[in-house]
Amino acid sequence: MTLPAEVRRLAGADMDAAPSVADAWLRVGPDGLIAAVGPMSSFNASAQAGHEIVDARGGFVLPAFADSHTHIVYAGSRDGEFLDKIRGLSYEEIARRGGGILNSADRLHATSEDELFRQAMRRADMMTAKGTGAIEIKSGYGLNTADELKMLRVAARIREASPARVRITFLGAHAVGRAYAGRQADYVDMLISEMLPAVGAEGLAEYVDVFCDKGFFTVDETARILDAAARYGMRPKIHANELDCSGGVQVGVSRNAVSVDHLERMGADEIEVLRTSRTIPTMLPGASFFLGMPYAPARQAVDSGLPVALASDYNPGSSPSGDMRMVWALGCIKMKLTPMEALAAATVNGAAAMELSGELGAISPGRAASFIITLPVPSPAFIPYEYTSPWIQSVYLDGRKI
Ligand code: NIG
Ligand code: FE
Repeated sequence: MTLPAEVRRLAGADMDAAPSVADAWLRVGPDGLIAAVGPMSSFNASAQAGHEIVDARGGFVLPAFADSHTHIVYAGSRDGEFLDKIRGLSYEEIARRGGGILNSADRLHATSEDELFRQAMRRADMMTAKGTGAIEIKSGYGLNTADELKMLRVAARIREASPARVRITFLGAHAVGRAYAGRQADYVDMLISEMLPAVGAEGLAEYVDVFCDKGFFTVDETARILDAAARYGMRPKIHANELDCSGGVQVGVSRNAVSVDHLERMGADEIEVLRTSRTIPTMLPGASFFLGMPYAPARQAVDSGLPVALASDYNPGSSPSGDMRMVWALGCIKMKLTPMEALAAATVNGAAAMELSGELGAISPGRAASFIITLPVPSPAFIPYEYTSPWIQSVYLDGRKI
């Protein structure tokens, strides 16, 4: 998938039509950027003297995945709730019984920053090994100022330690912290008067997120939080319409959100609002798969001319996997995107949902040499089709094999 430098996202019919070069070579510069791409007919072996040559041996070269929505900083797991879920409890019932996000907040509180880093770094390493070259990481299991800052500092350490690009999002409004049980309005006031200034002072987050949904935060609360965060330069990327037609899409678009994410419950109104905006609808098929929810209407969105992004939502409650290979497959099998549409959604559009698409997300000169060399497969479509077969030969991020 090659794209000119100025193409930062693919929308509608363009998602299936990204150009590619058959039987190609590419040169990586010493700066870790792609220096040139061309067909083998134009390859001049003698001009490559002094370069290490890597033979892709019949494989395809695909852009590394850009996973624009994750919650990988968490402590332990929620495998106990997995059994409740198997026995028939819904996500909301588990949350109401004190499980869910608050369960993860308790565990996080009891875990040291170093141990949290060790656990989250293991997840980031698994993701890069499976071809992910950019990761957005949210807070939201702290739910008090000290623990939110602890999470964000861990995310910043991952940014230093991982070969992937990392973007960080403050999600203090993920649930109401235990100390504020029954006092949601006070929690929102505290978030605005205490958490946001603290996060802003340390410059710990590029984005702000709110779980704007039934049983979580209202549209009015969301608007207040987004407006307050804007004063610290944090742009919105919000959780919207997972559990209900929450008004989250509208409030996100009204605040010029970079993305609105989830969208399992979305109607014609939401699509219309998105069409008038630059906000990227981001869909998380791993959460639908794991929770047995409807899949977001990706086909309808693309047919309406929108630029859809796909992300993993890697988190302990609704999507305990950061494997973008699976997300690609689910995009095709369950959301009826073509293999090229789903790949564009998981690469260039995911990068756009992190404002990184000038830097990566496509194979083109000037962008990072962050790509996956596949094993020999009949076509790129074969990959999400034979969806559990190994297909990665090697992963390069910023020109370096990982
Ligand atoms: O994106 N929906 C809200 N937040 C996460 C789940 C968090 C959790 O259950 O721990 C999500 O699905
Ligand atoms: Fe999420």
